[in-house]
Amino acid sequence: MVDPDFVQQDFQRRLKMISSQGMGLSVDLYSPDLFELVKKLRERGLQPAYFEVFKATTTALTTVRQAMPDIALAYHGEGLWITQPDVQESPFFQQDVGEMVAQLNCIQSLWLNHECAMKQMAGYSFGTYVPPLYTPLSAGVVAENIAVVQQSMDRQGSRMDGTVPLFLLEMPPLTYFAAGTIPIPYFFQLVTQLVPCGLVLDIGHLWTVYRYTAAYRQMSLERFVQEFLDEFPMERVVEIHVAGLACHESVGESKRGERLPEWIDAHAAPIPSILFTILEQVLAHSNLVSLRGVALEVDTKSIELILEEYAEVVRRFSRVVQQTTARGTTGEPWAARVPHPASVQEKMCRSGRQQLCDHYGRYAQIISGQVPLAGPEWQEVAAEESGLTRYRTVYLPHEILHWGGDLAQMYPLTCRTLAEQGICLTEFVPFWFRSPRPLMHSYDFFLLKIERFVEFVTERAPEARVCAEQESEMLRLAYAQANEVVDPMMEMEHTR
Ligand SMILES: [Fe+2]
Repeated sequence: MVDPDFVQQDFQRRLKMISSQGMGLSVDLYSPDLFELVKKLRERGLQPAYFEVFKATTTALTTVRQAMPDIALAYHGEGLWITQPDVQESPFFQQDVGEMVAQLNCIQSLWLNHECAMKQMAGYSFGTYVPPLYTPLSAGVVAENIAVVQQSMDRQGSRMDGTVPLFLLEMPPLTYFAAGTIPIPYFFQLVTQLVPCGLVLDIGHLWTVYRYTAAYRQMSLERFVQEFLDEFPMERVVEIHVAGLACHESVGESKRGERLPEWIDAHAAPIPSILFTILEQVLAHSNLVSLRGVALEVDTKSIELILEEYAEVVRRFSRVVQQTTARGTTGEPWAARVPHPASVQEKMCRSGRQQLCDHYGRYAQIISGQVPLAGPEWQEVAAEESGLTRYRTVYLPHEILHWGGDLAQMYPLTCRTLAEQGICLTEFVPFWFRSPRPLMHSYDFFLLKIERFVEFVTERAPEARVCAEQESEMLRLAYAQANEVVDPMMEMEHTR
């Protein structure tokens, strides 16, 4: 068995290598343009202590590092589906980890932040994050996969000061549902008992946990947050995120006026004031002793709104953030929680991984509406099925048809032919989820859409195939050019 005390000591040793940062911004290089944002921040006398930058091309990240040599940078990774029991067998896993380590090195990153979520499972692909199964087996797999990634970072990381970036696992948002058999904070306890990773606590994600679990019917938000934080491994929280929330564009106006709105994670949207109330509660928690930074996540947000919100947050929170991050460097002991009785095997047996692969296959089929809800992980979801129904019937079709590339705009000629033949585009959604598919390349939702749409047209309207292939060729060319052009303004917005 893994000794949790030993893991905690290893975490402490790694944490010591990260200096306190204070308040920062989590950004995308292109949306909005980072250099323009930095210029406008300076004009307003604002100087974030650090920027956490989202994955981009290594060339572009190198340019940023060279242009801003004095500012600390951290890295927001993407595409390592560490929730998945078969991820290490993927032909692209080593390549993806290698690229990620190269990017960490090129920006001399403080840490690697990665969501505890996936966009691919059991051969099915999605456009936006889907939360893991919250089960003990799943926690064990996440811990094992993180250990493998951290080992690669230990071996190949090369920061000039000789330190190694730390893997930070971010608790993901819920988009209307969560499946599992254990409480979400306990899941993160299990993971952190097994692997010396840090955590990112995203305040908006925490709100969605309240909204899309039974909690919102049972208790006040304040009590939920208190109980959640008391069970969550707060001593591992290295970074806090705060971002906007909003109703999804596919949700009708009637839902917007509800007592508790159906908000989901939305980085372009304003930060609702309720999140600052939760932030106060989080910062006051006595076990928050490892904090190194608090970042507003502002990718896709207008620069004007970023300036306004960041100035306000600095005014309101910089002092308490400074005090809290200082707490983390004095070696103050954290109050131990009563340990949960359950434990996880040190090394997951093969049958455990296979079992979880099956669970994820069913997960993908359930949330895409191919099979009915069944099994212990889905009991709570079944008790309030409207959330999953909204995801399956509204959110997911919108994702496949419009998000990260609107099919009608991508394929104007092909879509016209399909319409003439009475083929509705919505039929593409069940086609997409009809069967699992082997991975042909590292995850890229835009390229997947192109591949699958040509297959759909070939099957449903064979005479339109040539047209679809021609339109695909133009799309691929434009996409490749946009991703290689050095000028960031020319970069096509990636699908996040
Ligand atoms: Fe976040």
